[in-house]
Amino acid sequence: MASEQPLFTLRPATTKDLPAIDVVADPEGMGPMPSADHITVAVNADDEVVGFLRLQEADGLWHVNPVAVYPTWRRFGVGQALMGDALAKTGELGLVARGPSVPFYEALGYDKVAWGQVGAAVAAECDGCPVREQCHPQPMRKRA
Ligand SMILES: CC(C)(COP(=O)(O)OP(=O)(O)OC[C@H]1O[C@@H](n2cnc3c(N)ncnc32)[C@H](O)[C@@H]1OP(=O)(O)O)[C@@H](O)C(=O)NCCC(=O)NCCS
Repeated sequence: MASEQPLFTLRPATTKDLPAIDVVADPEGMGPMPSADHITVAVNADDEVVGFLRLQEADGLWHVNPVAVYPTWRRFGVGQALMGDALAKTGELGLVARGPSVPFYEALGYDKVAWGQVGAAVAAECDGCPVREQCHPQPMRKRA
């Protein structure tokens, strides 16, 4: 009996992945990524990037900054798999959620925290953002 192929797998990103990562990131206003360092990609059976997560260290804590999944691949567990992989690697994660993404992080067990509980460099990315009022950014954290 043939075993079923997984819908997607995770692997470390390489420099060659950067254009495909930016295809996912750009429409979300997240690109371009500075390098492939600390990026994990989710790829389909043809090794095409369908999502990615970048880890950033700030004030001694690892942060998710950012995570994004290609629109047609959402709600298939890609984001959850990327977040689970990142938490397993780091033991604890902080992030600043965009308002509409808060239910995603809450579903994964992240808690809302005060701004001072995430790295200053990550929090500062919201300073002066023209859509801050509409976005309702929310600092969040989770321990493994
Ligand atoms: C947020 C995002 C990464 C989630 O990725 P995803 O692959 O669709 O998430 P998953 O399929 O792993 O979802 C896991 C669970 O999170 C919750 N969830 C995910 N998206 C949700 C949404 N839009 N609304 C409410 N709950 C949601 C659900 O409980 C879901 O489980 P279910 O599908 O069995 O109900 C994706 O929607 C995305 O790329 N959004 C645009 C970029 C973005 O906002 N990134 C976060 C910046 S802070």
